[in-house]
Amino acid sequence: MPLPDSTPTPPAEAVAPLMRGVAVLHRLTEASGVLSLSALERATGLARSTVDRIVATLARMGYVRLDGRDATLTPRVMELGNAYLAALRLPALLSGRADALADELDESVSLAVADGDGIRFVHQATRRRAMSLSFRIGDLLPAERTAPGPLFATEWTPEEWAAWRTRRQQDPHNRDFPAVPPVVRQPPAGTATSDDFERRTTGAASPDYALDDQLIEPGLVAVSVPVRDPRTGRIACVASVVSHTSRHTAADLRDTLLPRLRTAVATMEEDLRQAPPPESGPSRTGLAVWTGASKQELGREFVESLARGLTVLTAFGEGRAELTLTEVAKATGLARATARRALITYEHLGLVTAAGGAGAGPAHRAFALTPRVLSLGFPPLSRTSLPRIAVPHLRTLTDAVQETTALAVLTESGDEIQYTARVPASHVMSVDVRPGSRLPADRTAAGRLLLEGTPATYTLTDEELEQGVRAIAVPIRDRTGRVIAALNAATHVARRTTEECVRDILPALRSTASHIEADLHTASRFTRVPLT
Ligand code: PHB
Repeated sequence: MPLPDSTPTPPAEAVAPLMRGVAVLHRLTEASGVLSLSALERATGLARSTVDRIVATLARMGYVRLDGRDATLTPRVMELGNAYLAALRLPALLSGRADALADELDESVSLAVADGDGIRFVHQATRRRAMSLSFRIGDLLPAERTAPGPLFATEWTPEEWAAWRTRRQQDPHNRDFPAVPPVVRQPPAGTATSDDFERRTTGAASPDYALDDQLIEPGLVAVSVPVRDPRTGRIACVASVVSHTSRHTAADLRDTLLPRLRTAVATMEEDLRQAPPPESGPSRTGLAVWTGASKQELGREFVESLARGLTVLTAFGEGRAELTLTEVAKATGLARATARRALITYEHLGLVTAAGGAGAGPAHRAFALTPRVLSLGFPPLSRTSLPRIAVPHLRTLTDAVQETTALAVLTESGDEIQYTARVPASHVMSVDVRPGSRLPADRTAAGRLLLEGTPATYTLTDEELEQGVRAIAVPIRDRTGRVIAALNAATHVARRTTEECVRDILPALRSTASHIEADLHTASRFTRVPLT
């Protein structure tokens, strides 16, 4: 294994296939979600046959999709990051306040947690602007090049400072932080450099705020305030307002926006104080049951120890932030020995940490997920959209029914529908509606479905828009059950009767809609997924 020299040797009980699977997920994440199998082979240093089996297993789990020679991360992989974010609870409790502040200031607002000597974003309320580099949920930044960094560093132990110095020596240009541009050699005159980090940390302690004056790249400025855990007084996360020098200088941010950030943070801390105890969702018993069946079916191509190991991460969640080995085994349906080896592997990889009771015996030790779990696929998918989620499913559907399929939403005026994704069938005569094109809502199957107060399970139109065209549509619902889009298939009267549409197309439409919904619900749990 081509591990960097600084990587400690894995413990004897670590599960090698699980480590390889995690390495594949890391490389795909760094590559923005897509790599060819041969690029994966190079990036991981694994044998091609190993890469093939790992990717086949991840595909079976629904975490990657194989498009020809490319492996692509799918929205389902976000359930790993979701498990961490749900267990953390801060996004659920504070993201509403962060979004409201972003609206009030018309600037981006983020929430970040400490991750070793870095900071990792757990929420982003982003303003889309030409002049701004914006980070994604799950991105890791080196502490010394950010505003939250010095605030977290006020709590560092001497060992943590030593680890930071070692990292700075080994990676002076921040090449291990793919989310940031490499360190600029000559920072603009008068601006701080990362070498000032210790001074900035001392300076951050008493006023309890910190600035980033273009440490990441020219133009980018930020001001940050810690959100403290009301029980411990320690920093739970850091809230930042991010802007560009074309709108605010760093000094400007401090003078004009810091007071409003402080007010918002005080409200966040009050929210934490008043938060009801976490609701412990039902434990998802038997997560691991399906792995045996997959092994039977796929044989050598299915790496069961990888699939079993990954289910361990999804045992965590809201109200399940700290789990003992016994609880993990129960939640996953894995044998204790299997769950134990997976936890040992994750602890070695820094994805799981022993929570609180370090003194407790091994059986009673509680484990918790770390922010690093977000590096398993989350950032590239956190910017997806409903059309992007839908297209691979539309391809499968078009293939299955041999008709053009599309996704449509109602326009703002409410009297038209707009196609947002479309996969044509390869008939000479196919219904020609392109993404972006609009049609009258009341004469299309998708439109009629979206116009109804309580949408039907499906609608069918028969030559109403155009002679010869028959269309059938089913609803797509968001996490709350609201209908937000319609999935539609169009055919020609010469190809299928109305009855045949219902008999041959409707079941496939329905199952495709439920696949799209499953992806949408996973992706939108902690990120906003645009409908267009
Ligand atoms: C951000 O939220 O994008 C952000 C926050 C603090 C920084 C830089 C960027 O120092």
